[in-house]
Amino acid sequence: MTKASRFDADHREQRIEEGKGSRRFPWHEENHQHGQALGEKMNIMDSSLLRLSIVVPTFNELRNVRELLRRLEATLGATGWEVIFVDDDSPDGTATEVRDIAQAETWVRCLQRVGRRGLSSACIEGMLATSAPTIAVMDADLQHDETVLPRMLAEIEQGGADLVVGTRYSAGGSTGDWNKSRKAMSQLATMTSRAILKQPVSDPMSGFFMLQRKVLDSTVRGLSGLGFKILLDILATAKQPLRIAEVPYRFRDRFAGESKLDEMVIWEYGMLLADKTIGRFVPVRFVTFAIIGGLGVFVHMAILVSELKGLKVGFTTAQSTATAGAMVFNYTLNNLLTYRDRRLRRWAWFKGLFSFMIACSIGALANIGIAIYLFENRTQWLLAALSGVLVGAVWNYAVTQLYTWGKGK
Ligand code: GDD
Ligand code: MN
Repeated sequence: MTKASRFDADHREQRIEEGKGSRRFPWHEENHQHGQALGEKMNIMDSSLLRLSIVVPTFNELRNVRELLRRLEATLGATGWEVIFVDDDSPDGTATEVRDIAQAETWVRCLQRVGRRGLSSACIEGMLATSAPTIAVMDADLQHDETVLPRMLAEIEQGGADLVVGTRYSAGGSTGDWNKSRKAMSQLATMTSRAILKQPVSDPMSGFFMLQRKVLDSTVRGLSGLGFKILLDILATAKQPLRIAEVPYRFRDRFAGESKLDEMVIWEYGMLLADKTIGRFVPVRFVTFAIIGGLGVFVHMAILVSELKGLKVGFTTAQSTATAGAMVFNYTLNNLLTYRDRRLRRWAWFKGLFSFMIACSIGALANIGIAIYLFENRTQWLLAALSGVLVGAVWNYAVTQLYTWGKGK
């Protein structure tokens, strides 16, 4: 066979046939006979074809990478699968570690994203980067039990499921050593998620699942990609009812490193819910920006009033400083909330503030100009100021989305 023919369609068909012939699914018999001793190769992946891709989002998971790979290989055998780490430029060098390993192990890949953050969007990009017919998503910290992967794959390849959820709640599953408040929060989120879910799933918050590529193909354009809940995003986006299977597992403690989830996960979850409900009509980022702008008006007015009434300064000075104060306030909140996934820090924060102010200066000039014009033409001071703020706000949104936080959804 010539080299070029390796890429012929016929040749691929032939390989698929060969692959099928050599496939074994020993987790039904052998697994039960011999147990699931760690390190025991189950050779479920006898096929030389790529059958499964495991997408692992990472942020500062350096010390978990090798252990995860070791355990995956112990469970899945040597061939037929790959791992894609999607790393958001972790300062601890996770991406470098993955690439070091990948030079010898070509089934390991690294997708490094720079200047971005976000678990969901990382998973989406990882899933899009593979050609495998079946895709799994799991965390890097070994909290997800990799030994159930063969069962999940069987649910898809043999059971015909579209999507399999690794669930912590149904019989046999467990949340491990979670504290009370984390358990309560997780349950509350699960309850509210029912509002946007079309099908009942016992653990829609799970970060551990497997799906057929076609599920991704049919939902990817509608995904919000906001926050942590990628599975919920997929479930809420799917138009057709999916055949869903659930595989219980015990949620383990983290192997190394620490959780990236903080209180802000509630906010991100709110953004996802909002996007899935009102997002159809108006972009959720605009809603957030507008609400923050509304709060900015109060800040503006507080500064304006205290300067006008308290310090007795002139209207022009008061309106100008109030505009600047509101600008800093708006920038800070938008950076924390609206553009959380592209949050600017340290130097970038100051640069961002600078560009925010430069970009908005035209808006601010229009703001002050219009307000002064109206004020001098017998418009009441409050109305004059508000009109100025409105013009400034429209400018702020359009211009800063583009220049301060870059273009995006
Ligand atoms: N690329 C990228 N970008 N990866 C991230 C980011 C990010 O901004 N934030 C977190 N990760 C990675 C972590 O490195 C880890 O591999 C995985 O996403 C999960 O993050 P953890 O910080 O370990 O989250 P958790 O254990 O508290 O919660 C997880 O498990 C829950 C139960 O399955 C998340 O997956 C939750 O969504 C899930 O409900
Ligand atoms: Mn974790």
